[in-house]
Formats: sequence, C-alpha cells, structure tokens
Amino acid sequence: MPEEAWDTMDLSVNLAPGRPEGLALGNPVMIASGTFGYDGYGRGFAAEAPLASLGAVLPKTFTRHARTGNPEPRWFPLSFREALEVGETTLLNSVGLTNPGIETAMADLAPRWADSEVNFVMSMAGDSAEQWEEMASFTRGVIGFSAIELNLSCPNVDDGAMFSHHPLLTEAAISGVRRQTDLPIWAKLSPNVPDITEIACAAVESGADALTISNTVPAMHVDVETGRAVLGTGYGGLSGPALRPIAVALVHKAAQAVDVPIIGVGGIMTGRHAAEFLMAGATAVQVGSANLADLNAPFRILTELEELLTRWEVNTVDQIIGTARWDEPGALPG
Ligand SMILES: Cc1cc2nc3c(=O)[nH]c(=O)nc-3n(C[C@H](O)[C@H](O)[C@H](O)COP(=O)(O)O)c2cc1C
Repeated sequence: MPEEAWDTMDLSVNLAPGRPEGLALGNPVMIASGTFGYDGYGRGFAAEAPLASLGAVLPKTFTRHARTGNPEPRWFPLSFREALEVGETTLLNSVGLTNPGIETAMADLAPRWADSEVNFVMSMAGDSAEQWEEMASFTRGVIGFSAIELNLSCPNVDDGAMFSHHPLLTEAAISGVRRQTDLPIWAKLSPNVPDITEIACAAVESGADALTISNTVPAMHVDVETGRAVLGTGYGGLSGPALRPIAVALVHKAAQAVDVPIIGVGGIMTGRHAAEFLMAGATAVQVGSANLADLNAPFRILTELEELLTRWEVNTVDQIIGTARWDEPGALPG
C-alpha cells in the first residue's frame, strides 16, 4: 500500500454543510439504526467494540412511549450469518421498534453517550405531526448526540400512511422537529414510493440537512410446508444485499434532485458496496444487516474502503462522490 497515500488520506465528510457549524464526521461509515447488537442500546454497544473509529453510530429508533415490540418471530432467517453462508441475500424483520421511550433515552442513555468518545446520532419516530414536535422538544438542552435522524418509515396515526410516503406528511414531521432543535436533522426515507425525488425535495424544503436512503422494503415470506408466514406480524421489512441495487438507484435519483448530503444504506457488506453508494451520489453510508452476520463488519468495511481509495490513488472521499456514469466510458476511477 503506498505510504504516501495513507499519509494524506482524508476520509472526513460534512453531513450538515448547510448549518453554521456543519457536522464533520471523521469518516463516512456509520452503524444503521436498530442493527448493532440486538436493540442498539444497552447491551448492544459492546464496550470492547472500537465504535469511536466509525463516523457515527445510530442507536435504535426511540418512540414517544416505551414499546415492547411485535409478536415473535421477529426475524427471518433467524441467523443471517448462516443464511449468507448458503447464499440467502435477504433478511426480513418485524421488530416493532422495541425501545424504552424518548424520555428514558434522554434521561438515562444520552448522558452515557455524552461520556463516550463515540459520535452518536439519535434516531426517533413520532406517530403524528404534533408528536414529532413534542419528541423533539424533549431533546432540547440534552447533550450526547450530534444530530437527529428522523425515521419517517413509521405510520401516521391519522391515516396509517408512512410519513415518508407523502410529501405533506414528510414536511409536517420535519418542520415540527426543525422548530424545536438547531441540531442537524437527517430524514430517513422509505424506498417504497413512486418518486423519491418528490419526497426528498419536501424533506429538504422543510429543514432536513441530509437524507438517509433507505429504510427496508415491505416484504413477506410464507413457509410452504406449514402455510404460515414466517414473521409474527405476517409482513416485515426486507434488508440485506437484495436491497442494495434498489437503494443505490434511489440514492442516485435523489442526488440529482437535492443539494444536501445523502447517506446511503441498504445491503452494504463490503468496502466495494460502500464505494458503490458513494459513486451513486452518497456522501456517507450506514451498515445495517451486515452487523447481524458479523459485529466486526463496519470496521472491516471502513478498512476495505480506505484500501480501495488508496488503490485508486484517491485521497478524499468527495473525489468519488457522484462519479457513477453510463454515458462516458472510463469515467470511473480504477
Ligand atoms: C433488525 C433490524 C432492525 C431495524 N431497526 C430500525 C430502527 O429502529 N430504525 C430505523 O430507522 N431503521 C431500522 N432498521 C433499518 C436499517 O437501519 C436499515 O435502514 C435497513 O436495514 C437497510 O440497511 P441494511 O440492508 O444494511 O440492513 C432496522 C433493520 C433491521 C434489519
């Protein structure tokens, strides 16, 4: 590996360039909400994991009130690692946002985050426009996280539609949060929409500083021997490698429509996959399901990405962001 490239390698990215102080991350690799350890809080954050070496860590989404989650089974396949060994590329889950509620999170967990070297980004979800704003008000004056990601893939109590399925709902959720906080807001969008650019633009116009694309795709699997759906709720969310090409396309489309950073997430298992999202227009990436196969995955992915950039003689991340082309041969590095 050329020593010179390592010496000058700068992996830092700014995930809120529109805010006065910006939001600098040391590198573009993060842990996606809900996928590190079991629930992403408490025992999920193993003390020995070098989490501070990642760009950021997103704990599981917090809701207004504590939730115990959905009926079992909540996962299929039960061991994603074993599934990958036999070539299975999807994970279905229906965890149901198990969490202690935002007030407990702010009182008990945020102080622990503040004491650590890890860059935490809080994730939350409301079920009405009023509740999004109320939840954001609980974060005022709390330290321990550098941004708030809004999990907009949750249903609105009034009509059952997911917030990120409609531009007006997206706007209602984000603008309420924007009124309550000066922290950077990342809007995490659903992939299951006819036109991601419409939702992306609504999110940015209502105050999002970055977009996270994407959450899981609605999915179902039936065991034909028993005739039963494998998840306790019937339907779940599909994640893992099968989601990647869908998310890459959505990132690429959204990147043409907005000028805020995009965080790509969906099926990233290797540094090459991370680079693919960056080339499609993402500024950073989150690693989700890969953690369920290997808790070392985000650290390995970061190392692999650095090695790729070094091989391509690229020493800043932004040199590859948005370089994907199909009109000019040879436009890609390497
Ligand atoms: C078991 C599981 C739990 C998840 N929980 C959350 C969550 O609480 N909040 C959220 O915004 N996304 C949640 N997600 C979605 C992931 O953060 C991510 O967007 C999605 O899984 C796609 O990335 P991946 O293919 O790398 O897993 C969850 C995903 C899985 C597999």
